[in-house]
Amino acid sequence: MSKFPQPKEIYDYKPVIHFVPPKNWINDPNGMVYIDGKYHLFYQHYPLAPHWGPMHWGHAVSEDLLHWKHLPIALYPDELGCIFSGSCVYDKDNLSGLGSEEKPPLLAVFTLHSMDGKHTEHQGLAYSTDYEHFEKFYGNPIIPNPGQKDFRDPKVFWNPVRKCYSLVLAAGDHVEFYASHNLKEWEKTGEFKAGVHGLGGICECPDCFPLPTPDGDKWVLVISMILPREQIGVNNDVYDRMSHITQYYVGDFDGNTFHDTEEADIPLLLDYGTDNYAAVTFQNLEEKVMIGWADNWDYANFAPSDGNGFRGKMTLARKTKLVKTADGYRLAYSFEGLESLRACSYPLPCGENRLRSQSFGLKVTVKGPGSILLKNQCGEVLAIKVTDSEIIVDRTAAGQNDFSEPYAHPAYGRTHAPRQISKQQASTMEIILDKCILEVLADDGLVPVTASVYPTRPYEKICITGDLEVEYYSVD
Ligand code: FRU
Repeated sequence: MSKFPQPKEIYDYKPVIHFVPPKNWINDPNGMVYIDGKYHLFYQHYPLAPHWGPMHWGHAVSEDLLHWKHLPIALYPDELGCIFSGSCVYDKDNLSGLGSEEKPPLLAVFTLHSMDGKHTEHQGLAYSTDYEHFEKFYGNPIIPNPGQKDFRDPKVFWNPVRKCYSLVLAAGDHVEFYASHNLKEWEKTGEFKAGVHGLGGICECPDCFPLPTPDGDKWVLVISMILPREQIGVNNDVYDRMSHITQYYVGDFDGNTFHDTEEADIPLLLDYGTDNYAAVTFQNLEEKVMIGWADNWDYANFAPSDGNGFRGKMTLARKTKLVKTADGYRLAYSFEGLESLRACSYPLPCGENRLRSQSFGLKVTVKGPGSILLKNQCGEVLAIKVTDSEIIVDRTAAGQNDFSEPYAHPAYGRTHAPRQISKQQASTMEIILDKCILEVLADDGLVPVTASVYPTRPYEKICITGDLEVEYYSVD
């Protein structure tokens, strides 16, 4: 018998505009790339059961980032290991020689995680000229393990200083940078240690990319962190209540390594909620658009699913920019691909309104404190509250929570995110509920909160109080 329970079939949790696998387990988004009008999403997938297992790369494509077409599994485990997280690069000039001028290759750079009980991690390469079927590179591994315990999740990006490709990968308590002229042979160029500033721990799924600002381009380094047990909860609930959390740094990339120049008093979090991990950006796309795994290792293997038998989901795609705040540059997000749906929005008055769908968006103008409560006839309540100092998302009474102790714990169930916009100023907040996933982008996108919710029955009412102007739009 598996130590993980089968998903409970209580209610239809299958989101409408959030990506889920056709069946069974999913975690990190991998290899996201934009080619010829199509967004490709690869993902950590165990196709045989609804829990984590030997990893494959699943594959799907979309033209609008909301509706996805499932494609055959792109990468299967081989004798060097199963296929952990990594990235894709559209090798348009065929630098690798693995395609041709007419058919530039799509390269997947990933971690091979040995299945011999030793858990050795090397980096491997695969290529495709139809962007669907991949061939593993004969010279794998392309970056052999240098004797490092955790050595994974390569993310390839263009290096404008050296005018070649670089990659950043997680190596224990730090990340390492490598550069290459042909995407096959890589030389190490530098390191960056997490925790000198920000959170320390074991690094996973780094990403490194430039964003324009009025002060010129700045670089962002995103790192998903496994926090050491003794560090969890020592400072306060907002910054260190979980064992897995994604942080970012703002600074410069000198062609060899990253330097954090935008020092902050407190770690910068990619999301204040519990359910956005391993988020990375699309390659070959002008703008920086991110997707994260909308779950949490602390309970993902136990989360309820539905008759569809999937377990796990992705966040919506979020366009990412840097905004100058009183505390310095911070990431701000907006949902990508929702324009046509937003165009059909209509106002909801304060007080109690009927809800006709479990998949909808709310455009909110925040003029002062207020609250939005979603309620069902079982007495379950999902609350989003705005105070002068905090955005609070409370799912402690929102639905099922007996499947996991951490999920049921108030530190996970109630998020208190600090406001980034002063109380004198109006701000926008966009909220998406899509069956089992709630995404809130408050304070003009500076305060993201993502939370998994498992109501036992549909929410039937939405109750609005306070100084909030709310417009509703359906997404199904
Ligand atoms: C992050 C992670 C990665 C790893 C993958 C395995 O969620 O632990 O570091 O490559 O998941 O599925």
